[in-house]
Amino acid sequence: MNTKIKVGLIGCGRMGRFYLEEMLKSGRWDIAYICDLSPASRELAAQLSPESKITDNEQEIFEDETVQVIGLFALADSRKEQIEKAFRYGKHIISEKPISDTVERERAAVKAAESTRLFSTVNLYLRNSWYHKLIKDFIDQGEIGELAIIRLCHLTPGLAPGEGHEYEGPSFHDCGMHYVDIARWYAGCNFKTWNAQAVRMWNYKDPWWLQCHGTFENGVVFDITQGHVYGQLSKQQTHNSYIDIIGTEGIVRMTHDFKTAVVELHGITQTIREERPFGGKNIDVLCNLFADSIDSGVRHPDLPTFRDAAMASQSAWEFLEDSKNKDLPAIGEEKTLEKILSRRRAMKNGYGLLKQL
Ligand SMILES: NC(=O)c1ccc[n+]([C@@H]2O[C@H](COP(=O)([O-])OP(=O)(O)OC[C@H]3O[C@@H](n4cnc5c(N)ncnc54)[C@H](O)[C@@H]3O)[C@@H](O)[C@H]2O)c1
Repeated sequence: MNTKIKVGLIGCGRMGRFYLEEMLKSGRWDIAYICDLSPASRELAAQLSPESKITDNEQEIFEDETVQVIGLFALADSRKEQIEKAFRYGKHIISEKPISDTVERERAAVKAAESTRLFSTVNLYLRNSWYHKLIKDFIDQGEIGELAIIRLCHLTPGLAPGEGHEYEGPSFHDCGMHYVDIARWYAGCNFKTWNAQAVRMWNYKDPWWLQCHGTFENGVVFDITQGHVYGQLSKQQTHNSYIDIIGTEGIVRMTHDFKTAVVELHGITQTIREERPFGGKNIDVLCNLFADSIDSGVRHPDLPTFRDAAMASQSAWEFLEDSKNKDLPAIGEEKTLEKILSRRRAMKNGYGLLKQL
């Protein structure tokens, strides 16, 4: 008996190919279709998955009654229509974030997800990471006393302005929404106040670095710093990514080099240092939780919801908007950005490179 879950993937760029690789590896998925509008992406998909039907027409996936799950890995502008269509055709959905390109359209996608018994999830990948689960568990044991301060920082020489992902918004929305989401996950409630400072690096129209601090409804305070501005032209690139959580009695923190993550837990009764492989985007975890849900008929509670994604996205947009109402300096020149873009085009291995086609 074929017990594999039949799936159709829409969008086979950088992320779509991560899903494809993980699904092929796991052996739990029958990747029946791969759809992409770009001929180069389709050609690569055909090489990676010769058994799949490769198409530029998403409609044939929706109309195939045997397809159980649709993977939505194109860009944010097409997502809301694809979400609504997938539910209409009776398909479960694994979606990339953001679930659409505006707050209103994200709300409509949440409404669609919450009006059906079909399963949906979204790749808020930090929620599936071993390090955040370990830290949360330690906090829940009371080891740091009362949770008081959440500090997150993610600075890399990653996706530069104008390189792609235009519908996903500036860096603080496209990438920063993950940190906005995980801060809210730790606090266990919604943001109450915020104050954002940003800078328009290289004189680009939008901020590419933003720092926001504020409070949650339960009084926990936070600061989040995110930017893809970190030494883009340095000879040897590096990054700085950490979480630092302070309680009334102890602290926990984590840092990583994208290969290994190191968690340090300084609690009242335990001092623990854990070093394990970073785990990348944890797509294997997400796909396995989703496959478990389909197989058991019960949605796994650890799967991030469309509502989680819409709330993180809305807050990220609000923080960006707040920064525009403050002093918003422009530093650097467009010609430096040109240099960055041309360097990234020539790079084979770099931070957040959209795969060369
Ligand atoms: N969860 C994460 O950590 C994470 C990380 C990176 C990107 N993303 C998200 O994943 C999505 C894809 O990003 P990417 O980096 O793979 O981008 P990409 O540009 O590499 O790939 C997008 C692909 O979608 C195709 N496409 C665009 N519109 C389409 C449509 N209507 N139908 C079919 N194919 C279409 C493009 O031809 C391209 O091959 C984005 O929305 C991004 O926000 C999430």
